[in-house]
Amino acid sequence: MPAAQMKKPEVIPPHIAIIMDGNGRWAARRMLPRSAGHKAGFDNFVSIVRECGKLGVSYLTVYAFSTENWQRDKQEVEYLIRLMNSGMTSFLPEMKKNNIRLKLCGDLSRFDEQSRKMLDNCVETLKDNTGMVLSICLSYGGRQEILQAVNRLLDEGKKNINEEDFRKYLYTADIPDPDLIIRTSGEIRISNFLLWQSAYAEYYFTDVLWPDFNKEELYRAINDYGRRSRRFGK
Ligand code: IPE
Ligand code: IPE
Ligand code: MG
Repeated sequence: MPAAQMKKPEVIPPHIAIIMDGNGRWAARRMLPRSAGHKAGFDNFVSIVRECGKLGVSYLTVYAFSTENWQRDKQEVEYLIRLMNSGMTSFLPEMKKNNIRLKLCGDLSRFDEQSRKMLDNCVETLKDNTGMVLSICLSYGGRQEILQAVNRLLDEGKKNINEEDFRKYLYTADIPDPDLIIRTSGEIRISNFLLWQSAYAEYYFTDVLWPDFNKEELYRAINDYGRRSRRFGK
């Protein structure tokens, strides 16, 4: 359907999560370095946060950097960290104005002090906002998240815990499970994203590469979600 005819979604999933994949291939297709793909990917992240805010999405969770991504070339990892530091610093005033709250999910101890300070400052600056909760998964892995939860429970000497207790130990403790999980770039896998939380999520896979995933593509994904029947096993 041409973009102009794309209908504004009527059913809005309360919690959208996105695996923002395909920056490298976007750059390769343009004979550009991977860093250019990551820059375009960051700019698109900013646009999609805006669109989700306008649509009234309550929770938006994005997968920005996985525990496995630390194994990439040092140069690429360093570029991504610089991009995060400068990009988040520039985006902060707009997030403040647009009433966005920020949550970080992942093992942040692996970042250097400068990045940790910048991230802490963003969370602190936005803490009194009351609008959309933006969760950024950084140095995040679903298995690592579950293991750190189990280790904390063991440290506290807890026994016989139930699902409700367990979820309090996940990074996503205070937010509901995702309703719609979008993955761009044509890969049909979850790559260690929200393993526990995605038990009943609806998945949407698209071949569109992350930097090209614009407002129309977002509407398409949400409209697809709106046509599904969720039964939760009942
Ligand atoms: C997603 O794009 C961004 C990160 C994982 C940091 P990729 O860098 O994985 O791009 P492709 O998958 O190689 O195209
Ligand atoms: C998943 O993408 C992680 C992020 C988008 C941050 P990857 O590119 O790392 O995943 P694989 O390697 O294709 O599974
Ligand atoms: Mg990838």
